[in-house]
Amino acid sequence: MDREPLLNIGDYARAARGRLVKEVLDYYEGGALDEITLRENVAGWERLKLYYRVLAGVGPREMKTTLLGRPVSLPIAVAPTAFHKLACPDGEIAAAKAAKTAGALFILSSLSNTAMEAVFTQAGSPRWFQLYIYKDREVTRALVQRAEAAGAEAIVLTVDAPGLGTRERDARNRFSLPAGLAVENLAPLGKGTIPEVSGSGLAAYVRDNFKSDLSFDDLDWLCGCTSLPVVVKGICRGDDARRATEHGAKAIVVSNHGGRQLDTAPATCDVLPHVVAAAGDQCEIYVDGGIRRGSDVLKAIALGARAVLLGRPILWGLSVSGEQGAADVLKILGRELDEAMLLCGCTKLSDIGAWLFQCG
Ligand code: FNR
Ligand code: LAC
Repeated sequence: MDREPLLNIGDYARAARGRLVKEVLDYYEGGALDEITLRENVAGWERLKLYYRVLAGVGPREMKTTLLGRPVSLPIAVAPTAFHKLACPDGEIAAAKAAKTAGALFILSSLSNTAMEAVFTQAGSPRWFQLYIYKDREVTRALVQRAEAAGAEAIVLTVDAPGLGTRERDARNRFSLPAGLAVENLAPLGKGTIPEVSGSGLAAYVRDNFKSDLSFDDLDWLCGCTSLPVVVKGICRGDDARRATEHGAKAIVVSNHGGRQLDTAPATCDVLPHVVAAAGDQCEIYVDGGIRRGSDVLKAIALGARAVLLGRPILWGLSVSGEQGAADVLKILGRELDEAMLLCGCTKLSDIGAWLFQCG
């Protein structure tokens, strides 16, 4: 019997739910505490309404852009997410190949199940490396140096996780990695194992290893220790965004980690305009959290973002059909963005603007 076609990201989410074991599904889907921010991220984009323009003579849509000077085919990037081999055997390599097929930027998590060298050489997509700052400076330095040597084109410093937000689903499931999977980038540095403890093993790993007193000094240190551009991910305020640029950030990701860190942090669509106003003249601004439709991408651009990042949708795609599923997710969102541009009266990304929220 033919399966129902998977037409949209919601279809992929539902199909993934039928395929993953509970512990993995909860880890991928869940958020911090009451999961209010998790829901608000999605609801925020849904709430925004578009005052489309008609008779605008829209030609073939142009979605190409550049991210820190790197040409990409669409303003949709793969967010750094941990542990892709929980979704499919080829893990991060499947995800990065899907990004290459779509012409999209791929951001590899520090906490990948595949070593960065293997991902970057086999995938051939535009590639950035996401960094967590470890308590041990030499561990952190080694990661940065390896990322540079492996061909990463930027370092994405995640600043919203000085500790892990409590995910009660993971605590109940005593989340850890199954036998045979490790934090491969850290394995040579003696930090490749997620422990088995009475609560979340990942929370224990973060407590043991991540620097909890992160400060702007760490950003200064990072900018001084790499020649790559540094992108700061996890910003929720205009003043922090501005300060990050003063300390060397070349781009900002407005993000609350997909509602996985501080619960009741605002939806990212509500933060984005403030960050654009405070720092948009200094650096590129991206946003993630709750992007599930092409119209959400268009709304993000209308609010001043240069691109969006996708977290869970890629994990759902990988869970359903590996590289093909992740590529399909990117293709669906690209197609939906194209349609939203057509129906809004926009030929180019630069036609998309704040006017879409005003009834002229
Ligand atoms: C994440 N995210 C994340 N961020 C990061 O900087 N490093 C990481 O290792 C991870 N790991 C991770 C695992 C899982 C399972 C999820 C769902 C998320 C956060 C991610 O980059 C992004 O900010 C959010 O996922 C965006 O929200 P959506 O698209 O999932 O709604
Ligand atoms: C997470 C961490 C690993 O959100 O970033 O699970």
